[in-house]
Amino acid sequence: MNQIINARLRGRDGLFSIEWAGGLIRAIDAQPGPQPATAEALDAGGMLVIPPLVEPHIHLDAALTAGEPRWNLSGTLFEGIERWAERKARVTPEDTKARAHRTLRMLAAHGIQHVRSHVDVTEPGLGTLKAMLEVRDEARGLIDLQLVAFPQEGIESFANGRALMTEAVEMGVDVVGGIPHFENTREQGVASIHFLMDLAERHGRLVDVHCDETDDPHSRFLEVLAEVTRVKGMGARVTASHTTAMGSYDNAYCSRLFRVLKQAGLSFISCPTESIHLQGRFDSYPKRRGLTRVPELDRAGLNVCFAQDSIVDPWYPLGNGNLLRILDAGLHICHMLGYEDLQRCLDFVTDHSARALALGAGYGLEVGRPASLVLLSADSDYEVLRSQGQALLSLRHGEVIMRRTPGETTLLPLSTPAPGYGP
Ligand code: FE2
Repeated sequence: MNQIINARLRGRDGLFSIEWAGGLIRAIDAQPGPQPATAEALDAGGMLVIPPLVEPHIHLDAALTAGEPRWNLSGTLFEGIERWAERKARVTPEDTKARAHRTLRMLAAHGIQHVRSHVDVTEPGLGTLKAMLEVRDEARGLIDLQLVAFPQEGIESFANGRALMTEAVEMGVDVVGGIPHFENTREQGVASIHFLMDLAERHGRLVDVHCDETDDPHSRFLEVLAEVTRVKGMGARVTASHTTAMGSYDNAYCSRLFRVLKQAGLSFISCPTESIHLQGRFDSYPKRRGLTRVPELDRAGLNVCFAQDSIVDPWYPLGNGNLLRILDAGLHICHMLGYEDLQRCLDFVTDHSARALALGAGYGLEVGRPASLVLLSADSDYEVLRSQGQALLSLRHGEVIMRRTPGETTLLPLSTPAPGYGP
C-alpha cells in the first residue's frame, strides 16, 4: 500500500490523494470527487490528514511514577519535589527505560511521532541520561526523540552543575536546558543563561529553558534569555518553556518585554494542564490561572505551542498521551475559543511545535518530505476539537504504525417515547 485517498487537508478545499515511495511523499493530487475504496489504497473517508502530532515538552524520566512510594496529597509543586526525591532514590537505568518506552508507546498511540523530553542531569554519573540516550535509539521506529540536558536543581547553585551540563552535551543530547528562576540568586540565574547559551552555540545544539515557571512577577529571566538570543542571532533555535510568570507581569512591563521577544524571535511552549494545576497555589481569591500569555504571544507573531509536560508523575497525576486533550484544555484556559482560533487550532500541536523543535524539511505534507502523516476522526480543526476527535491511523516513513477503531454507540429506542422522540 502506497497511497491514501479521499483525504481532506488543512487550509485547502476538496479531497486529495497522497502517494509515497521509499518512505517519501511522491505526489499530492486534488481529486475531482470522492474515489471508490480499493484494496490498494488507504481510504481517509473525507477526514483530515495532517502531519504527525508533536509533543514538544515532556519529562519521560519521571513519567509513570505517581504514587510511588506515596501520592502527592496537596498537589503542589513543592510536595511533588519531595515525593520525587523519594522515588528518585529507587531509580535504575532499567526502570527509567521501561517507563520511557511505555510512555512513548502511549504518545505514539495518539499520533505523536516527534517528542522533546527533558532529562534531569543533576545526577552524578548521569546514569539516567545514558539510559535515555539508549531509548532515543531504540524508539526510532515509533518516534523521533530529542533529549534536553535539564538541570533540575540548577547549574550555578548545584555542585558541579556546569561540568554535568558540559558532559551531557558531549554525551550527545540534542538540546541544552536551564532553570534560571530556580537558581539561588538573580545573579546566578543570569549567569546560568549566559553559560547555557554559550554551551549550545559552541556545540551547535538547540536551547529549551524552563524559564520563569512561577507566579512571581519579579521572576524576569525571559528578558535575559531573549536578549542573549537576539545578540547571538539564535532565535530559530531557542525556546522558552512555561514562562508562567508572564501571566503575573503588569502590562507596562510586558509592552517592553514583547519588543525584545519579537526582536529575538524565539519560540514558546505552554503546558496548560500542568500549569493550571501547579500555579496559583499561593493565591486565595482572585486566583491566577498561572499560564503565560499564549494569545498575546501568538497575535504578536511569535511561535507558541502546547505540551503535556507530565504523564502520571509526582507533579501531575493524570495524562494518557493524548495531546488533543491538552489542546482542548489550553484553548479553554487561554480564552481561545473564538471563531478564528478554532479554524486553525491544530497549529498549536503540529506546525508550531515542529518549528520549535527545528524539524525543518523533516516535517510536513509536501512532496519530497517523509511519508509520515496522521488520519484524524473529523474533517476540520474545529470538528476535531468539538467532537474530541482521535488519531485513527499513523503512517511513519510509509509504514502504518498505529490504527485505532473508534467505539460505536447506538442510542436505543425509548420504550415509552416522549413527544418528539419516538418511535
Ligand atoms: Fe517541564
